[in-house]
Amino acid sequence: MVASLGLTEAIFATAEERRVVDQVEKGLEAVEARLLTEVAFADELADVTSRYLLEAGGKRVRPTLTLLTSQLGGGVDDRVLTAATALEITHLASLYHDDVMDEAHMRRGVPSAQTVWGNSVAILSGDLLFARASKLIASLGEDAIRLQADTFERLCLGQLHETIGPREGEDPIEHYIQVLADKTGSLIAAAARIGISFSEASAAFEAQVEEFGEKIGVAFQLVDDVIDLSAEFEETGKVAGTDLRAGVVTLPLLYLQRDAETDLDAADLLARIEAGREAETPLDAEIAQLREHSATARTIEEAHRWAREAQDAIAPLPEGPVKKALTRFADSIVERSS
Ligand code: IPE
Ligand code: IPE
Ligand code: MG
Ligand code: MG
Repeated sequence: MVASLGLTEAIFATAEERRVVDQVEKGLEAVEARLLTEVAFADELADVTSRYLLEAGGKRVRPTLTLLTSQLGGGVDDRVLTAATALEITHLASLYHDDVMDEAHMRRGVPSAQTVWGNSVAILSGDLLFARASKLIASLGEDAIRLQADTFERLCLGQLHETIGPREGEDPIEHYIQVLADKTGSLIAAAARIGISFSEASAAFEAQVEEFGEKIGVAFQLVDDVIDLSAEFEETGKVAGTDLRAGVVTLPLLYLQRDAETDLDAADLLARIEAGREAETPLDAEIAQLREHSATARTIEEAHRWAREAQDAIAPLPEGPVKKALTRFADSIVERSS
């Protein structure tokens, strides 16, 4: 797991760096065990449906971040593990709901929950998981409850604003970036912050890692937009063009729309995408064309810019393995292909 985030590379070679990476690795094993014990509802059907996506995989980006930032303080302990587990369950729950909203057929390489059991079961499984995450967070006290509630509120507002789209006169690209910061950045920011809060690290680090988390969240989503156009199902576990076909806005599409105002080729591609969506055709050629279009290259550039800004946000952290790992983490997020 940490391999996909660049933490197992040879650049982490000093004894202190190895110790931090080992702690994160051991912590992730403990989180995995906690996830399996917590995602259980003493109900045969609920256990099957709620564990379904948990067991299907996932990168565990959020707990990794919590475990990593906890190294700025006293390191991993039971509270840090509880926080990391609760935030991963929150994320897991949001995936159940997201796939219903996005009409996504595949998630983590398997058919999405609503494809298997229908919308009601998928929605209720997500709700059960949210409930379980809240119960775990409650054991950490009022500040943690507030952080979880504020984060969840932002996540829902992000999803809502994505659904509604920009208001009259609002710049669609600015609106979209705000949606990404809210729906994804908020939870990744909370994951980074909570590692500080429960490890007795200096409170001064909280805002820095929070900003880092939010910005890599945006970078992460922009890469996700590009992954949606990827033809490599084996690697992504998702079907190419799912967002495009479902009419989910992505930055490559927004750039294409802006280009289409002045560029005939872009206008032609956009018209074909819209017609194909209307007629529910597979859109394979259009997906391939958008993948090769400069709109996608500019999205990748924008993802890199957010990752660099995230790295700037942690510039004041003390030099050492955590800062180095977070910096590498930001790079690996924009390099990822799944
Ligand atoms: C997917 O998140 C949903 C987004 C917020 C982009 P991840 O890419 O972290 O999903 P998993 O956990 O690895 O499946
Ligand atoms: C998922 O965003 C965000 C949340 C679950 C809050 P997306 O819809 O963009 O992510 P994928 O592509 O389905 O993973
Ligand atoms: Mg989705
Ligand atoms: Mg979505």
